Amino acid sequence: MNNNPDAARFAGKSILITGAASGIGQRLAERFTACGARVAIVDIDGEGARRIADSLPGAIALTADLSQPEATRQVVHDVVDALGGIDVLVNNAATCADSPFEELSDLEWERDLAVDLSAPFRLTQECVPALSQRGGVVLNIVSVNALQYYGNESYSAAKAALISLTRSLAVRLGPRGIRVTAIAPGTIVTPIWDERLALDPGVLDKAQRWYPLGRLGTPDDVANASLFLCSADASWITGTTLVVDGGLTAGNAVMAQEIVPAQ
Ligand SMILES: NC(=O)c1ccc[n+]([C@@H]2O[C@H](COP(=O)([O-])OP(=O)(O)OC[C@H]3O[C@@H](n4cnc5c(N)ncnc54)[C@H](O)[C@@H]3O)[C@@H](O)[C@H]2O)c1
Repeated sequence: MNNNPDAARFAGKSILITGAASGIGQRLAERFTACGARVAIVDIDGEGARRIADSLPGAIALTADLSQPEATRQVVHDVVDALGGIDVLVNNAATCADSPFEELSDLEWERDLAVDLSAPFRLTQECVPALSQRGGVVLNIVSVNALQYYGNESYSAAKAALISLTRSLAVRLGPRGIRVTAIAPGTIVTPIWDERLALDPGVLDKAQRWYPLGRLGTPDDVANASLFLCSADASWITGTTLVVDGGLTAGNAVMAQEIVPAQ
């Protein structure tokens, strides 16, 4: 007997998740699979994608560099051929250039815009015929960087534009039965932090003190919100960006403690 109460929540659904060879995307693939879905793991890291797919019943892996327009569009057709359709598209893959603004190159700027904004545009456009046959859902993983300044100008601009695209496409595709939503996570402990940890092993401890709920996020925090937004429980929710950030953007407790007496 299966003890998972969610075991049939996405039964019979096909879900394309980009960037699912690591971090949040990997956890999404695991959680959607545990809810009965078949997932297509799309990633530039083909070996990682294959490893995750091999560990999940019914999953398939596809290698694609989502900065490349043709390969990005082709992947949708490959997934439809392999899984017979797409019910949910999760635009999760991202790049984030860490150069200071004064040194940010055209190449870095364009790469972040290509992977973080243009790929979701291309994938969604290509998925519309499949999604509109099945009351489909598009979920865009954005970031608190889209809402406030945290550095990383190219990444932040791309994520902010992706929130705009989320709202536009919710309106445009609503009449076709397609919902489009976004999740804006705060700091989530995943391999995306590895480079910064190598430079400063204390970086995540420093980040934690800014969070009212007293801890950083986990991939499961994002997965819980994602399962809700992609499920029938959210069938009247579209165009929304759900902030999943432990209270980070609700206010500034550290500042308040420093400048308001007796806090
Ligand atoms: N981790 C955080 O603190 C955090 C915070 C806010 C938002 N997010 C967002 O969550 C999402 C997932 O981030 P994560 O922390 O799991 O990162 P991660 O680095 O663990 O995973 C990202 C995945 O995207 C893939 N990818 C990168 N470039 C690609 C390309 N050109 N084509 C195809 N795949 C590519 C990588 O190979 C990797 O598997 C991203 O959209 C990120 O912006 C993360």
